[in-house]
Amino acid sequence: MKAQAVSDCSLIAPVPRISLQAFCEAEETARIIEAAATDRRMERAHVSAQMGGPAAAIAAFREAPTPNIIVLDTAANGPELLSHLAALAEFCDPGTKVVVIGRYNDILLYRELLARGVSDYLVAPSNVLEFIRTISHLYITSGAAPLGKIIAITGAKGGTGASTLAHNIAYSAARDLSIQTVLADMDLGFGTAGLDYNQDPPQGIADAVFAPDRIDETFVDRLLAKCSEKLSMLAAPGSLDRLYDFAETGFDHLADILRATTPCVILDVPLGWTAWKKRMLVNADEAVIVAVPDLASLRNAKNLLEALRAARAHDVAPRLVMNVVGIPKRPEINVSEFAKAVGVAPSAIIAFEPKLFGIAANNGQMLAEIEATAKPAIAIRELTRKLVGCPEISRGKRSFLVPFITKFVRKKAS
Ligand SMILES: Nc1ncnc2c1ncn2[C@@H]1O[C@H](COP(=O)(O)OP(=O)(O)OP(=O)(O)O)[C@@H](O)[C@H]1O
Ligand SMILES: [Mg+2]
Repeated sequence: MKAQAVSDCSLIAPVPRISLQAFCEAEETARIIEAAATDRRMERAHVSAQMGGPAAAIAAFREAPTPNIIVLDTAANGPELLSHLAALAEFCDPGTKVVVIGRYNDILLYRELLARGVSDYLVAPSNVLEFIRTISHLYITSGAAPLGKIIAITGAKGGTGASTLAHNIAYSAARDLSIQTVLADMDLGFGTAGLDYNQDPPQGIADAVFAPDRIDETFVDRLLAKCSEKLSMLAAPGSLDRLYDFAETGFDHLADILRATTPCVILDVPLGWTAWKKRMLVNADEAVIVAVPDLASLRNAKNLLEALRAARAHDVAPRLVMNVVGIPKRPEINVSEFAKAVGVAPSAIIAFEPKLFGIAANNGQMLAEIEATAKPAIAIRELTRKLVGCPEISRGKRSFLVPFITKFVRKKAS
């Protein structure tokens, strides 16, 4: 199942359960670190930021043990900074990593800092994502598993076609973009991924979530049903023998394993607003809401998009896909008015095509297998490219040294 990671500049691995203490001279840096602490990727880390810079750090650690990471934000020049580090080194526990946020774009200083054991050097002003990326990168060791992209798809109401689109997007990622993909059907009782791929695997996603102690890479590998060379599926049982109530973190371990082993993971998240469903959408790299052009969809899509935007402040915005547009004789909300009302332009608009979708559903085939040049198949291909590709995100101000440093450190790590 191991394969090349999707090349995507927005992917940042979640930071492990570490403690981080920052000592800042600039209030702006403290604000950035506090904002980073609320990001989904830093959720497991214990972060605190205080003012006072290196002097405060030295005073604090004279008596107390040092955390996993100390961040020093300082305007000190080279010699001054090196003498602070020498003083701090006396109290630093061996496993502690030090990250410096300085003010000088100076490669000689940077090299000197690395030579003294500093893990990384950023030039202020940094930004939230840059900071998270730096911390995350400290825990990606060479030879670590490739980092996959998780794309979570759900409907704004029942029956919008969210699952059909999720299954077709997974197909397109594997076939058109040649990316190893796993489709996970999270609608345990009613999921249709098995039906849509004309498969009835004996095992699937239920075996993973009902056996949290057994779950590891090899176990998940065995649960995957192969759909094509590059596409595998974690099918839902689609039976009502059990009840499917899950804790908020019930799918976390599975999502971590999939992210670490599969370049592209498509989650078919069933309708609903329970803790674990919200968590899957919030924690995904891309969240997609599929809506049809009616009033109930409009209200729900607006609420979902707003809730997700608020919970994913440093991520790409959640996406809107309009589906089943243009049912004959049925009054509907104009797509551009719909988009204006929810404040998001649709990433794809897919027409009502009962024949094509009907044949696909009844034959257990993907749309592109039936008619690759049909408009919905083309729209899904383009949507898949947008979802899997490198999204544009606002990165704020960056110093010229930062990309160089990042490249340099990565090269060293590999
Ligand atoms: N653009 C379309 N034109 C015609 N039929 C469509 C279109 N999109 C989806 N459908 C059909 O709508 C039905 C419902 O689709 P699907 O099961 O994917 O929806 P869902 O949003 O996942 O539903 P649920 O809320 O039950 O999970 C399916 O029969 C599917 O083939
Ligand atoms: Mg569904």
